[in-house]
Amino acid sequence: MADSKASLSIDGNVIAELPIHKGSAGNDVIDIRTLGAAGYFTYDPGFMATASCESAITFIDGDKGILQHRGYAIDSLAKQADYLEVCYILLHGEAPNRTQYDEFKGIINNHTMVHEKLVHFFHGFLPDAHPMAMLCGVVGALSSFYHSDLDIHAPDQRMRSAHRLIAKMPTIAAMAYKYSIGQPFVYPRNDLNYAENFLHMMFSVPAEEYVVSPTVARAMDRIFTLHADHEQNASTSTVRLAGSSGANPYACIAAGVASLWGPAHGGANEACLTMLTEIGSLDRVDEYVAKAKDKSDPFRLMGFGHRVYKNFDPRATVMRDTCHEVLKELGIQDPLLDVAMALEKVALEDSYFIEKKLYPNVDFYSGIILKAIGIPTNMFTVIFAMSRNVGWIAHWDEMLGQPGQKIGRPRQKYTGEINRTFIPLSER
Ligand code: SDX
Repeated sequence: MADSKASLSIDGNVIAELPIHKGSAGNDVIDIRTLGAAGYFTYDPGFMATASCESAITFIDGDKGILQHRGYAIDSLAKQADYLEVCYILLHGEAPNRTQYDEFKGIINNHTMVHEKLVHFFHGFLPDAHPMAMLCGVVGALSSFYHSDLDIHAPDQRMRSAHRLIAKMPTIAAMAYKYSIGQPFVYPRNDLNYAENFLHMMFSVPAEEYVVSPTVARAMDRIFTLHADHEQNASTSTVRLAGSSGANPYACIAAGVASLWGPAHGGANEACLTMLTEIGSLDRVDEYVAKAKDKSDPFRLMGFGHRVYKNFDPRATVMRDTCHEVLKELGIQDPLLDVAMALEKVALEDSYFIEKKLYPNVDFYSGIILKAIGIPTNMFTVIFAMSRNVGWIAHWDEMLGQPGQKIGRPRQKYTGEINRTFIPLSER
């Protein structure tokens, strides 16, 4: 039922009455589904002003710097919940009570190991393969282990896929790291919490005992929470579009991994640290800010700007606090943090960045924290993918649970040739 209507008129003639629907928060939406019949498409490359779906999972207000998961503010979740609680909230819509949390944690623990045959997929990669390439390939390969008896229209089977993916992503991610450094894979330990287990699989070796630092585990868990979901971003939209055809969920998540890898999206944290390293010292900050402002120079400040946040990214604020906490607790003086702070200060006072509303985003500080806790740069986006995995699967589940779910099939503005006569090669 429409809340109001928009009349679209062209040259004074009303060609369509378009219903306007209100959500529970955010912009109202103009329902343009009948526009095709009137002979028009909307045109919105990059989907700057297009609502692709109806969702109750995450709300963002880019002007006010608001991010809420199922109505819970991100800074509350980051400081008062752990990542598994956030996974439960994203999947089920409510915060779990103690019994529900313990049951959920137990289920995830029962799925942390991977099939021994999955190990062989790694041995096809070159030693210097990027961990994101391995993650994309091996997560996609999971679809060969869970396909024939998977009914994606059965809610309980969708939830089991969610449990498997949440549980196995850290195991596969750590395996990608171990493969890249030539160390043996480490099995998960179910007596450790989610972040501790990941760090154990990443850094322990058979030759000696590895003790997880509580500070590092807490920082890791907070980074997981801060990257868990973010409305209809590029990788989540990729998973939704892939899943809309009824494709295997593990293959859809692999598509999300591929999309996230791009430097304009999840690859920005790795690119940001590479940029900070390239800048190297405080006296070169102004030179790089000038490059970022130079239209003839393709260089952009990685970790700055956002399609939605035209004010501060609330995750960056929490990440900044965490960055200082972790470096202080670990007693680390990182000159790159000094460069980052100087870059942030210069950029936020520069008219170019102010006019274009370019603020530090979630990726700006995460790279410095990850470096401080010993995560190698080429694993940064893998960490992002591990975290966003729950957001992808929550949106996939929500989409398939919605009545009347259709395959996504956008149209286009055609600018090519039309009605040409084909001359056979023999006559050309
Ligand atoms: C993530 O969508 C999500 O929610 C993503 C994410 C999530 O959680 O899923 O939040 C995670 O991807 C964060 C963004 C990480 N990417 C980066 O940090 C890469 C650097 N940032 C940009 O490439 C850019 O800001 C985007 C891609 C993030 C947003 O690009 P838009 O919205 O398409 O905006 P745009 O590219 O059209 O830029 C608008 C203007 C342009 O100048 P004009 O053409 O108007 O003259 O701002 C300029 C751009 O040149 N600009 C920058 C800049 N980002 C934009 N100039 C210098 N440095 C930058 N970083």
